[in-house]
Amino acid sequence: MSTAWSWVVIIGSLGSILFFYVVLQLNRQTGKESGETTGHIHDGIEEYDNPLPAWWYWLFVLTMIYGVGYLIWYPGLGNFPGIADWTSVGELETDQEASRARYEPLFAKYRQLPVAEIYKVPAAVKMGQRLFANNCSVCHGSTAAGGFGFPDLIDDVWTWGAEASTIKQTILHGRKAAMPAWGTVIGDQGIRDVTAYILSLNNREADPDAVAQGETLFGNFCIACHGPEGKGLPALGAPDLTNGIWLYGNSRSRIEFSIRNGRNGEMPGFKHKLGENKAHILAGYVYGLSR
Ligand code: HEC
Ligand code: HEC
Repeated sequence: MSTAWSWVVIIGSLGSILFFYVVLQLNRQTGKESGETTGHIHDGIEEYDNPLPAWWYWLFVLTMIYGVGYLIWYPGLGNFPGIADWTSVGELETDQEASRARYEPLFAKYRQLPVAEIYKVPAAVKMGQRLFANNCSVCHGSTAAGGFGFPDLIDDVWTWGAEASTIKQTILHGRKAAMPAWGTVIGDQGIRDVTAYILSLNNREADPDAVAQGETLFGNFCIACHGPEGKGLPALGAPDLTNGIWLYGNSRSRIEFSIRNGRNGEMPGFKHKLGENKAHILAGYVYGLSR
């Protein structure tokens, strides 16, 4: 907050309390006799003009003192940090630290188990399930079945590799897939031909001439990442294009779209957020989903 805004907040907060104090004083009417009326009469009912009851007056004063005290203790006055040094971030960190101290030993217990063994321990699976629901299901779905652009983690098909250690690596450090856009390189005809070739690899209907053209293009431009038979290369996250599983849709137009415009799927890394112990359990849980 800039200094000017800080002062606006300070003057606004203290000014409003002062304003109410002045209004309260002006209405106190200590000098008045009890029993005077305001002169208002309605249906024979007269309105008295008595001073405020003392308890009510002092309650009001107390709330004002409390309010000022609160603004001094907590950071309520613009940029003034408050004498208690309280911050919402600080409170969150203290809470997180406390829960880490409490629960981390539970997670650490499974650290000596290899990732590939964790899914055999029901208690660990339960933890994995909860961690997954909290951290992963937003993208991979509550059942881990994925969706458009988000891989299915239940089938035993892995673009980045099937080993338990690879899965853990993915969770800790994330993945960035880089499929270049080919539209300007091979043109519209090229896109149609290479798509025909990919469809033929999946035993789907395609024009034989286009398939022949597409095979040459594929050999020139695609095998570096997708491999000579289109079976993919886990080290690059280049998917198998022959297994009938499509991250970005299986229709001809969707496949053409992927090739023309490229794709850049990104899985965020969770090392900082979860730490090694939780990532270890999660990796074991995900590894077990397809078993
Ligand atoms: C530099 C490496 C690289 C090259 C070269 C490359 N690709 Fe890819 N391709 C990838 C990666 C990585 C992905 C996964 C993208 C993602 O997950 O977001 C991918 C994804 C795809 C997909 C989407 C698959 C799906 O599951 O939806 C198709 C189709 C595809 N590539 C076809 C091709 C064709 C055809 C060529 C050649 C013209 C080609 N690729 C060249 C790396 C490459
Ligand atoms: C913001 C969305 C997002 C979140 C949250 C997310 N992921 Fe992912 N994840 C992705 C995307 C996108 C990919 C695919 C990257 C690519 O295109 O290759 C992926 C890929 C993966 C893969 C690799 C799959 C393969 O076929 O090799 C694994 C394993 C995985 N995620 C596990 C997890 C786990 C466990 C969590 C929770 C800690 C998680 N993800 C949270 C988006 C997400």
